[in-house]
Amino acid sequence: MTPIINFAHRGASAACPENTMAAFEKALALGATGIETDVQMTKDGKLVLIHDETLKRTTGAEGLVKDYTYAELSGLDAGSWFGEAFRGEKLPLLDELLELTSSTGTVVNIELKNGVVPYAGLEQQVIETVHRFKMSGQVVISSFNHFSLAACKQIDAEIRTGILYMEGLYNPWDYAQTVKADALHAYRLAVRPEWVAEARAHGIVYHPFTVNSEEEMKALIDAGVAGIITDHPDVLAGLLQAKGV
Ligand code: G3P
Ligand code: MG
Repeated sequence: MTPIINFAHRGASAACPENTMAAFEKALALGATGIETDVQMTKDGKLVLIHDETLKRTTGAEGLVKDYTYAELSGLDAGSWFGEAFRGEKLPLLDELLELTSSTGTVVNIELKNGVVPYAGLEQQVIETVHRFKMSGQVVISSFNHFSLAACKQIDAEIRTGILYMEGLYNPWDYAQTVKADALHAYRLAVRPEWVAEARAHGIVYHPFTVNSEEEMKALIDAGVAGIITDHPDVLAGLLQAKGV
């Protein structure tokens, strides 16, 4: 049986400031076998890992990521909002995360955050970066922007993609085939065991997000999901070990 992928959401984001190298390193230390991250593009076309289009919440700076060069952003502190111990954590580049994970076998779920800001050429650049690290087989690209997922498959038919959605998608396994996607990155409440089975029968797997209670994790494991995206990879790692999956 293929092991269930334990995706640390934004890294180990319950223990460390989200989308920082500290959070990614902690995820690996806590037993994550996957890391989910969010990518945006700077004014000078660099791929930077940050959830929001705006800088305020995690760095205190004004304005939008897209209006700054990476040199300007690299001086920001993305750690102290979470805790003084993390002061000085930077906004990482996608390169830095891939460098960390290329030799560990960790699956990297790169979420394209292009639902609000269009970021011309984002798909091409992310895929080129993945190829540069020879990590095509180790990556799942996801997005709420499904045009973007279709574009990824046109660039590289082999790259795995996952459809992000909140609720109410009818027969998502059929829709996944329309988008040529491999996985359903469904909001945790948009998953039912019978749908997981039906998707499997169509060759499509579920990676639900963001699942933080043990009870829900157990139910999803029993339902047959292929991966779970969680803020608590340590809790999930313990469960998977206990269940031998
Ligand atoms: O990729 C799963 C999850 O990260 C999607 O929502 O807002 O946390 O990026 P969000
Ligand atoms: Mg995300």
